[in-house]
Amino acid sequence: MTARIDKVITSGAFELDGGSWDVDNNVWIVGDDSECIVIDAGHEAAPILEAIGERTLLAVVSTHAHNDHVNAAAEVADAKQAPIWLHPDEAPLWQMTYPDRAPDGALAHGQVITVAGTDLQVLHTPGHAPGACCLHAPELGVVFSGDTLFNGGPGATGRSFSDYPTIVESISDKLLPLPPETRVLTGHGPETTIAAEAALRGEWADPGS
Ligand SMILES: [Fe+2]
Repeated sequence: MTARIDKVITSGAFELDGGSWDVDNNVWIVGDDSECIVIDAGHEAAPILEAIGERTLLAVVSTHAHNDHVNAAAEVADAKQAPIWLHPDEAPLWQMTYPDRAPDGALAHGQVITVAGTDLQVLHTPGHAPGACCLHAPELGVVFSGDTLFNGGPGATGRSFSDYPTIVESISDKLLPLPPETRVLTGHGPETTIAAEAALRGEWADPGS
């Protein structure tokens, strides 16, 4: 049996730089009937824990530490006695939500996470956030893109700790070279494909300009 992908949509507020925006987040669960990982435990622990069920939770993996992607991570991790993994460059953002708690493990570019016999390769893709990471699962034909790449182009870079040239470089160097048919499973909104986003490459506008 290969890993399957479950999706839970949770709702809450994204807060940064003194602003607050109501958002829906895609929470991804990758695994089989016995074990799984959660990618981006945002907003609401209960529906995430319900989707995990009795399975062993190997880790809560955070693509980045904006509050809407991590604010249910501690409750989910504690309920399942699982670690939280995050790229260390996310520390300043992480501490806004969790000033008294550190992540349990560090994500690194090239690291491979194996769940239910399926490998997910960590791609460090800074720009939306300094330690933003994507997870590429070649056997599943998917990349979990967090807020780095959406249906329609790059993630937002208008707020603190973001940088537009950096996100363009990350997407161009690390994501667009993936197989074109790769499904891009995003942190918000509908999925897309590498081919669809590569075709729009010349139309990306600089949201910071
Ligand atoms: Fe974000």
